[in-house]
Amino acid sequence: WAVFEEDVEAILDLKRRRNAVVLAHNYQTPEIFHGVADIVGDSLLLAREATKVDAEVIVLAGVHFMAETAKLLNPDKTVLIPDLEAGCSLAESITADDIRLMRARHPGVPVVAYVNTSVAVKAESDICCTSGNARALVESLGVDHVIMLPDEYLALNIAAQTKVRITAWKGHCEVHERFSADDVRTLRDNHPGVTVLAHPECPPEVVAEADFAGSTAAMADYVGAKRPARVVLLTECSMSDNVAVLYPDIEFVRPCNLCPHMKRITLKNIRHALETNTHVVTIDPAMADRARRSVERMLAL
Ligand code: 13P
Ligand code: SF4
Repeated sequence: WAVFEEDVEAILDLKRRRNAVVLAHNYQTPEIFHGVADIVGDSLLLAREATKVDAEVIVLAGVHFMAETAKLLNPDKTVLIPDLEAGCSLAESITADDIRLMRARHPGVPVVAYVNTSVAVKAESDICCTSGNARALVESLGVDHVIMLPDEYLALNIAAQTKVRITAWKGHCEVHERFSADDVRTLRDNHPGVTVLAHPECPPEVVAEADFAGSTAAMADYVGAKRPARVVLLTECSMSDNVAVLYPDIEFVRPCNLCPHMKRITLKNIRHALETNTHVVTIDPAMADRARRSVERMLAL
């Protein structure tokens, strides 16, 4: 902790002086998550909380689409992302043109876009979803067919739980696609009794082998409510580190995959962001209203 202390103190001071808050995703490292964040959570909670912030400046400790969502919901506030290169393989996997093509192929079918998408893609979509509300949202539309993009595995995992027909895109999360059903079986052999939790961005065969699948917040809630003696979270590495701090009596088995984009955010660049007011997130005004509508429709449900 001593190595982080100077930056943590500087950030706490800068937050006071600049009337700023730090919103951090569950995949941020523990020194960010527990040291400087004001609000922590999954993408749904970060979007919801972004609508309630009354500070002047929001630093988004997460990836670019999360910062864009915060800016969409706070057009008059300054939203900073400490590293502009903090992207997402899912957001990169689809363009607005791709959606127009999907619509032409499936006329009249509503397009549900995962929040892990660019503003341009959100603007072409009817409504957004996250892993925390995807099933409820698909079912709330009152239709028998939806297009859900860009995460193929999330779409297939939701399709397995609902009667609504789902047409998917072929995007994948570079972190979760690496888990396999064999990994789960090996974990169970090597750690008898382990409870296996998986993020729904994992391939369906992994989710089928798991005891529970849910968003990062749902996984954290599951651990808090069920208190398994031994647990593994099939997701990004920092997730277990952050949850384990809260439950010293639970054994966390920790094979994990790092998200290189989430790991671009550090205490040093959060401090630098507040000191230099960089990088200011801007939204193309031609798309802002339509993209905001997709996010707000999701939040209204
Ligand atoms: P959550 O919404 O479950 O936090 O997931 C976001 C994400 O990027 C998972 O890879
Ligand atoms: Fe994107 Fe996957 Fe990283 Fe989440 S973990 S930000 S979905 S690349």
